[in-house]
Order: sequence, then structure tokens, then C-alpha cells
Amino acid sequence: MKIAVAGTGYVGLVAGVCFAEKGYQVTCVDVDEKKVEMMRQGISPIYEEGLEELMQKNNAKGMLHFTTDYVEAYRDAGAIFIGVGTPEMPDGSANLSYIAEVSRQIAETVEKDCLVVVKSTVPVGTNDKVEQFIKDFLVHDVKVEVASNPEFLAQGTAVYDTLHAARIIIGTESKEAEALLQKIYEPFGLPVVSVKRRSAEMIKYACNDFLALKISYMNDIANLCELVGADITDVAKGMSYDERIGARFLNAGIGFGGSCFPKDTKALKFLAREHGYQLKTVEACVDVNSAQKTRLFEKAKERMISFNGLKAAVLGLTFKSGTDDLREAPSIDNLKLLLAAGARIYAYDPKGTERAKQLFPEGKMDKGTISYVSSSEQALSGAHICFIFTEWPEIKEIDPQDFKDKMHTPLVYDGRNLYDPAKMKTAGVEYYSIGR
Ligand code: UGA
Repeated sequence: MKIAVAGTGYVGLVAGVCFAEKGYQVTCVDVDEKKVEMMRQGISPIYEEGLEELMQKNNAKGMLHFTTDYVEAYRDAGAIFIGVGTPEMPDGSANLSYIAEVSRQIAETVEKDCLVVVKSTVPVGTNDKVEQFIKDFLVHDVKVEVASNPEFLAQGTAVYDTLHAARIIIGTESKEAEALLQKIYEPFGLPVVSVKRRSAEMIKYACNDFLALKISYMNDIANLCELVGADITDVAKGMSYDERIGARFLNAGIGFGGSCFPKDTKALKFLAREHGYQLKTVEACVDVNSAQKTRLFEKAKERMISFNGLKAAVLGLTFKSGTDDLREAPSIDNLKLLLAAGARIYAYDPKGTERAKQLFPEGKMDKGTISYVSSSEQALSGAHICFIFTEWPEIKEIDPQDFKDKMHTPLVYDGRNLYDPAKMKTAGVEYYSIGR
């Protein structure tokens, strides 16, 4: 069966590549000519472990195609997966304009019966609208059904998460659509959960917001730990043995970022309000996270008279390790504050520098300056203060003694709890972290 995929971001591209890997003829559609040309040559526009290898392998086998010509891709596809973005609007709602655009293109081009599968994260009820929209604009006399199939991959482990997903959610009231999607996913050999379409849409938000809540809860407890003399790392360890709680997503830190949790918490809050309901838990999570992002800077501000002219080493810029993505990264809020306070920033990130330069071009900015260096040693050398924003393994591996030896003043503010406070103390480093 021919599969078409609309959008080649994290969701669309990874899905397309993995379907090709599982033996489908896949055509990925994107509006960006340059990006399409790159992907044709086997170059991935995003950094994801294993993705380029699979792209190149399936390009060579003739299973994977990239095009800007949606007519060619959709006309005779058996299934069209929509994986375009649903970015945040200024009021917190999800922007559905890309979904609408693709729906219109599908309606105008499909020439045989096909299943449209919405993978993008969309507010509950959107699939109904997509189906109606396509029916309203349909040009040819064909049957088009719409099913929800939310995606649960995390950046950095996208290919693995797709090939080894914990479950496939299929949301549709149509037995035919359900059977077809089950068949498409058969080669993956993964558990399938079939539910109503609106439930599938809600499962995606409920999962992301639950995980975001879990992190905000740990951050809240961490802040309290600091006040009462407990250690959040020990607390998390003690909690993790309870299988009802689980061991993952218990790391307190500088707050969650990325293209999903910040957007999806606000979108669910907005959806609830639209229906006259206040989702108090999620609203609290959004508030806790927003304050958490700059707590470390606030702590440092209490300690310093001024940041003006000081060399600030910044280790880690991306919203988490294993990705070059800076969207909603806590580093952004902190860099802005440091630059406004006149700091001379020397930033190091193993993968995120290029994207960071687009947001903060090298040189003078606000009252400070920013330079990008290619090692943590260069960032630390002669620094008066160090901030850690991402848990990259190469940052975690820094010997405490290096902070003492390389920095002008060994003063470290760690937003990821990477080091043992006792070891930092022994090495002569003044060390502040979260919740300890
Ligand atoms: C998240 C979900 O984990 C995926 O299941 C989901 O499919 C995806 O959103 C999406 O909706 O597309 P992702 O944003 O890639 O994936 O990253 P996560 O690994 O979930 O991390 C999100 C943020 O939470 C990061 O800033 C991370 O540093 C932070 N985090 C994570 C913590 O602060 N503490 C933790 O214990 C775990």
C-alpha cells in the first residue's frame, strides 16, 4: 500500500521513515523546497539517532520519497498521515491552520478511497472537523475516513520510540478504518488500543500533561526540600521504588521545555476553559514550570551584587540532551536575563549551538555579550560563574576539580542536579543545585 505523510518535522519524518523501513512505499510531503532536496540526498533536517541511516537505506531501496508536490503524493495513497505542527497561539490555544491547509489539499486531490490519519497533537474534536472539512471540499467521488493515531515519541529517541512504541492508539468509530490501521501497524508487532476518536485525541494530551504534572510536582517538592533541609534526589529515589509512582520523570530541575509539554499543557488548559471548566491541576503545573525556569538565576542574583562584565560559563542550551532543539528551553529565559544584567556569556552545547545562534547571534546583545565555544573547558576557563541548563553526558562527566582549576571563581549553579554536592564541596566548588 502507498502511504503519504504530510509534514516532515519530528512526527511526520520519523513516521514516514519507519513506515518505509517496515516495507511501505512512502512519500513525505513538505512545502520547503530546500528541506525536501536535503532529504532526497539522505540528509535529515533534524538530529535524531539512527534517522539518517534509515533515511539513506530506504531512499536507496526506492521505498522513501520526498516531494513538495502534494498532488503526486495524495492522489492514489491508501493512507495519508498528517504530521504537521500545531504550534501555540498567543492565547495558548493550538494553531490548526496547517492541519486545515493539508485537509483542503487532500480533499482536492484524492482520486481513490483513502484513510486520513491525524498524528499531530490536536484538541479534542479536531478529527471530526477534519473529516467534515474534507467531505465539504471533496472533488472526486471517493470515500475518505479520518482516524486519530496520536504519536508518543520523544525527541532524541524518536526512531527507537516509533519502532518500539509502548502502544499504538487507534481512534475511530469506523470498523473499516480500525481494521486498516491495525493492518498498517501489523509489521511493527506492537500492542494496539482501539478507542473512540475523541478519546484518542484526549489520551495524547492526558499523557503529556500527566508527565508535565509529574515534573512540576517534583520541582515543587524540590523547592520545599530546600526550605526544610531534605534532598530531592533521595526523595525521588525513595519514591521510585513504589511501582504505582514509577521511576521515570521524577527528576527535579530547571523546568520542562520542548515543543510539546509547554504547548500541550496550555492547550488543554485552553480547551477546558472553552468548555467552561477550569483544569486546576494543569494550570498549577504551567505556573510552577514558569517560575521554575528562572529560580536558579534568582538564586544567583541573591548571591551576586552584579553580573555586569562577569564571564558566565553556560553549559547546555537545548531543552534536554540528545537533541539540537531549543524550543521553550529554560536556557532561553536565563540567557535573556544574563544578557540584560550585562554578563559576558561563553556558551557550550554539543549539538545546540547552531540553533542558539539564530536566537542569540554571537556578539553584543542587550547589555552583555555572547560567544559560543566548542568545549566546556573553553567556557569554564577564567569564568566567574557557571550555569548548567542541560544534562548532556559530556557535561555530567566534568570532574569537580575542573571547575575549581579552570574557573576564576568556582561558583556553579546546576539546573540539572548533575553532581554530588559533597564531591563539589571537597573539590572547593561553591555549588548550588535544585532541591538539595
Ligand atoms: C514529550 C513526551 O515525553 C513524548 O511522549 C511525546 O510524544 C512528546 O513530548 C510529544 O508530544 O511530541 P519530548 O518533549 O521530546 O517528549 O521530551 P521529554 O523527554 O518528555 O522531556 C520534556 C522536558 O521535560 C525536557 O525539558 C526535560 O528536560 C524535562 N524533564 C523530563 C524533566 O525536567 N524531568 C524529568 O524527570 C523528565
